[in-house]
Amino acid sequence: MDKKNCKIGVFDSGLGGVTVLKRLLEDLPYEEYIYYGDSGNAPYGSGKTKEEIQYLCKKIMDFLIENNCKVIVIACNTATVAALEYLKENYSIPIIGIIDSGSKIAIKNSTLKKVAVFSTEFTANSNAYKNTIQKYDKDFEVTQIACIEFCPMIEKGWETFQDNQEILEKYINKIPTDVDALVLGCTHYPIIKDYIEKKFNKVILDPAVELSFELKELLKKLDIVNDNNVKKKPVFFITGELDKFKPTAEKFLGEEIEIYKIPK
Ligand code: DGL
Repeated sequence: MDKKNCKIGVFDSGLGGVTVLKRLLEDLPYEEYIYYGDSGNAPYGSGKTKEEIQYLCKKIMDFLIENNCKVIVIACNTATVAALEYLKENYSIPIIGIIDSGSKIAIKNSTLKKVAVFSTEFTANSNAYKNTIQKYDKDFEVTQIACIEFCPMIEKGWETFQDNQEILEKYINKIPTDVDALVLGCTHYPIIKDYIEKKFNKVILDPAVELSFELKELLKKLDIVNDNNVKKKPVFFITGELDKFKPTAEKFLGEEIEIYKIPK
C-alpha cells in the first residue's frame, strides 16, 4: 500500500488528544486518522512512573502500527515527556511529540519572556517545558504549575463537578502576575479553555496549533501527504468507558464519532 494513503495515529491517555485531533482535522483534512484514548489507564500524569507510561505507550504504538499508520502523534504532554525518546529508539516510524511544539509557541507569543505552563504533575516535575523553552531562549522565565485535579475532572465531565470553579481559581491564582501568556501544557485543558479564559484574560496558548504545522511540514518532507482529497471520518479506539468519552468528544468535535471499546 502506498504510504501516502496510510493513517495518522493519534494517542493520549484519554480525552485530551481529541483537542489535538480537532486541530489536525482542520489543518490536514484529507488525512485519515485513527485515535487511541487510553482512558482505562488514565491519568498518566499522577501516580505513574516513567517506566509504566513507557509500557502503556509501547502497547499503543503496536496497536497503531498494526492498523496501518504512517506517522504517530503523541497528543499527550505527559507521554511525550515519559516516552518520546524511548519510542524513537524502539520504532522506525516517524513520531511527533507535543512538548517541543508547546515550547516554540511560547517563544513566539511571549514578548515579556515570562510564561506560565499548566500541566500534569508528571510534566511539571520533569521540568520539560522549562528546559525546552530555555534551550531556545535562556532568558525566558517559566513557571510550571501542576493542576492535579484537572485531568480526572475533565475525564469524568468537568461541568458536573460542584467545586470546579474553586479548583480552577486555586490554580489561576498560582500564575505570577507578570507573565504575559499561559501555555496549556496538557492536551486535556483546551476542553475547559472557555472556563480558564473567564478567569485569566491574557494570551492562552494551545501547543496543538504548532504541532499541526510541524506535522504538515514533516509529511511534506517525507513525501507522504495523502493526495486523495477525500475526507474520511476518524475512528476512535478507547480502553475506558464510552459513555463518558463519547459525549465529551462529540461535543468538542461538533460531530458524531465512530468509536470502539478495546481492552486496556
Ligand atoms: N493529556 C495528557 C497530557 O497532555 C494528560 C493527562 C493525564 O492522563 O494525566 O499530559
